[in-house]
Amino acid sequence: MSLMIQTVHGEQIAPFIDDVARLRIEVFHEFPYLYDGDMSYERRYLKTFSQAKDSLLVLALHEGEVVGASTGLPLAQEPPDMQAPFIERGYEVERVFYFSESVLKAAYRGQGAGLAFFREREQWARNLGSFDFLAFCAVVRPEEHPLRPAGHVPLDAFWQHRGFQRTDMLCRMYWKDRDEPAETEKQLRFWIKPLDK
Ligand SMILES: CC(C)(COP(=O)(O)OP(=O)(O)OC[C@H]1O[C@@H](n2cnc3c(N)ncnc32)[C@H](O)[C@@H]1OP(=O)(O)O)[C@@H](O)C(=O)NCCC(=O)NCCS
Repeated sequence: MSLMIQTVHGEQIAPFIDDVARLRIEVFHEFPYLYDGDMSYERRYLKTFSQAKDSLLVLALHEGEVVGASTGLPLAQEPPDMQAPFIERGYEVERVFYFSESVLKAAYRGQGAGLAFFREREQWARNLGSFDFLAFCAVVRPEEHPLRPAGHVPLDAFWQHRGFQRTDMLCRMYWKDRDEPAETEKQLRFWIKPLDK
């Protein structure tokens, strides 16, 4: 199964919003996200990337179908509660490029699309020339969570191999888990990579 990688920016993202929304709902339904997503929220959320300055969307395509996607934008364009942990630690928000998500249908994993998502986003941030750090956050779930699949392998090693370090910086997000009746607060941990010049 050969995958094609295509990167788009700013308003070029708009035509792919529904494809990426469907992918996010499908992939984040699984542990550890357990997200019970809905298309109207997804469309609003993804529209911010098509309107943001210096944003990008990396697509993985198989025979013309979008099977994976990854987004990024300057942290300065994220909401204040995402910026706050960086400001508290003395980071200049303007020097941090934020990786928002990576989602790939399970059948297409292990072929290098994940590597391409990180490579393309890092290259873009480097080319922009004004960033010293890359950062993303990942949900924290208790070890004994009832929906953790047996043998679940966390992505920590994959991220470390991409040069990211786990931090003790946390943020909060809210969504409805698929086994819950209403939205609850989630804790997410930031991972950071310094961009050496
Ligand atoms: C994160 C995610 C996109 C990674 O995708 P992936 O395509 O399986 O990742 P890759 O195949 O690029 O890399 C996985 C490993 O396989 C290796 N690999 C396997 N086949 C490969 C190939 N043909 N070419 C290159 N690398 C390959 C990579 O080197 C990497 O190993 P490493 O970390 O030891 O270097 C995918 O696991 C996913 O969608 N997960 C669910 C959603 C999620 O949790 N997202 C993260 C939070 S936003």
